[in-house]
Amino acid sequence: MTDRQPSQSDELLTAYQRAAEIGGRAPSVHNTQPWRWLATRTGLQLRADRSRQLRAADSEGRLLTISCGAALHHARLALHAGGWVPQVKRMPDVRSADALAEITVSGHGTATAQQRRLFDEIDVRHTDRRPTVERKVPHDALELIRQAAADEGASLHWLAEPDLDDLAVAAARANEIGLADAEQRAEMDYWIGGTRPARTGVPSDAVPQTAPQTDVPGRDFGRPGTLDTGHGHARSAVYGLLFTSGDQPGDWLRAGEALSACWLKATDLGVAVLPLSSVVEVPATREILRRMLAGAGYPMLVLRFGLADPDQAPVPGTPRLPAERTTWPGQIPQP
Ligand SMILES: Cc1cc2nc3c(=O)[nH]c(=O)nc-3n(C[C@H](O)[C@H](O)[C@H](O)COP(=O)(O)O)c2cc1C
Repeated sequence: MTDRQPSQSDELLTAYQRAAEIGGRAPSVHNTQPWRWLATRTGLQLRADRSRQLRAADSEGRLLTISCGAALHHARLALHAGGWVPQVKRMPDVRSADALAEITVSGHGTATAQQRRLFDEIDVRHTDRRPTVERKVPHDALELIRQAAADEGASLHWLAEPDLDDLAVAAARANEIGLADAEQRAEMDYWIGGTRPARTGVPSDAVPQTAPQTDVPGRDFGRPGTLDTGHGHARSAVYGLLFTSGDQPGDWLRAGEALSACWLKATDLGVAVLPLSSVVEVPATREILRRMLAGAGYPMLVLRFGLADPDQAPVPGTPRLPAERTTWPGQIPQP
């Protein structure tokens, strides 16, 4: 029997498959995991999986594409950590809005210290919907988080008074509008505690038991979960508006890559993150956010940053689909 040495193309296939698997650990709206990967010996393709799009709340696919961008950034980090230098072609096929990225590698390379650190945070990062502690995130940490987003082509605008008051009103209004709309309500009921596919959606133990005390309300899931929110008040949290210079699918993808980068950086610095996306879903409240940017760009997501209470138990991890549900074994099926 001869021992066949793995060829470079075998090694590459394994690296692309691993990148797709790590990409699947990314955050996504309602944990829909709306991505599909095709790993071959010549590259890794990322496509949108519209079967897991929030058709009512996210009809344009902005939040779906932001989620896929976060997965793309995770996959890139996995390749760096594996000793490869990834190259990415974003929106590679003008005829297909679902083709989001093609990743290849240009050769071997050593990951930078920053890439290594962000990679190491992938399995630590999570969404924390509990109030943050009453101590400000240090300014230096906020600057590093802002820089991590900027490195990926998106900007974080820190919100101060009077915009913070407007955000609080807009977030409450967006929650009301979402819950009053029958289709959006049904969609949320499906993904949060409903008959969603196994290992998707937001599990009950990640949904607050009672409304957390805060000036700016987080998403109202319309049902209580089992997450103990404690007695704190999130009044020391800092809110950042993630925005891009354009509002096209390519910009949404970049915003997702920046979301992943700044969230992993925050995790590395011990800063808890909570995205607030209902204010972006509702056109009227998205317009309020756009005015806060005074022409500088288009709102993608509001992010709450704060110090987590060290005495609280860790939030249980949310499940992810097995790789066979998010990858194609062979050719991408033609529509
Ligand atoms: C684009 C996007 C929008 C999100 N919007 C919200 C939101 O409005 N409220 C919320 O509580 N979580 C939000 N999340 C967090 C997801 O629910 C979370 O990432 C997912 O359930 C997986 O959990 P994990 O982040 O703990 O891994 C959002 C995440 C993404 C990527």
